[in-house]
Amino acid sequence: MNINSSPIGIFDSGIGGLTVAHAVTKLLPNEHIVYFGDTAHLPYGDKSSAAIQAYSIKICNVLLQQNCKVILIACNSASAAAFELVREYVGSKAKVLNVIDPCVSYCSKNFAGKTIGLIGTKQTVNSNIYRKKIDDLRQNIHLKSLATPLLAPMIEEGFFNNTISESIINEYLHNEELKEIEALILGCTHYPLIKTQIDNYYQGKVTVLDSSQIVAQSLKDYLVESQLENQGNTSNKQFYISDYTKSFETSTKIFFGEQIKLDHYPLWE
Ligand code: DGL
Repeated sequence: MNINSSPIGIFDSGIGGLTVAHAVTKLLPNEHIVYFGDTAHLPYGDKSSAAIQAYSIKICNVLLQQNCKVILIACNSASAAAFELVREYVGSKAKVLNVIDPCVSYCSKNFAGKTIGLIGTKQTVNSNIYRKKIDDLRQNIHLKSLATPLLAPMIEEGFFNNTISESIINEYLHNEELKEIEALILGCTHYPLIKTQIDNYYQGKVTVLDSSQIVAQSLKDYLVESQLENQGNTSNKQFYISDYTKSFETSTKIFFGEQIKLDHYPLWE
C-alpha cells in the first residue's frame, strides 16, 4: 500500500479531539482518518502522567495496526504527558504530532514581547509544558496560565452557549491570573465549543486562539513538505471509542458538527 493513501490517526481522551478531527477533515478532505477516543479513561486532565502514558501507548498500537502515516495527539493533556514517550515508541513507523507545538510556534510568530494567557486542564497547566516551550523560543513572551477543570466536563454535558456556562466561564476569566493578556490560548480540545462565549467576554480586546485550526494547518504543512498528501479523491473516516454509551453518540454530533458512527474498540481485553 502506498504510504500517501495511509490514514491519519487522531486520538484524544474522548470526544473533545473531534474538534481537531473536524478541522483536519475540512482542510484535508482527501485524507483517510482513523479517530480513537479513549472514553473508557476520560478525563485525562485529572490523571497521572504515568496513566496517560500507558493509555497513549495502547492507542498508538491500535493506530499503527491501521497503518497510520501520522499520529496526531489531539489532546493537550496527552500531548503534555506522553508526546516524547509516544514519539520514541512509534519511532520511524509514523510521524507523531501534538497540539501544543503548532500553537506555541504560532504565538512566537504573532505575540513576541506580549503577555498571553493559557487555560486548560490541571494536567496541561501544571505540567508547565507551554511555559517551557514558549521560554525556549526566547521571544520574550510572558505566559499567564490558569487550570479550568470544570470546563471540559461542563461542555461534555452539553452546557455551552447558556447562562450556566456563561457564569462559569466568566468566573474563570475574571481570575487575577488572566489580567492584562493580549491573547488567550484555548489549551484543551473541548474549548473551541465555548470560543464564542469567551470572545463575548473579551469583546474583541483579547485574541482568542482556537488551536484546532492552527493544528490542522500545521498538519497540512507537514504533509505538503513531506509529499505525503493522499492523491486520491475519496476518503474514509473511522471512529473508535474504548467505551460505548448512547450519550457519546449524541455528544459526538456537537463536537464533530455532523452525525458519525462510533465503533466500540476496548483497549484492554
Ligand atoms: N481533550 C482533553 C485536552 O485537550 C481534555 C479532556 C480531558 O481531561 O480528558 O486536554
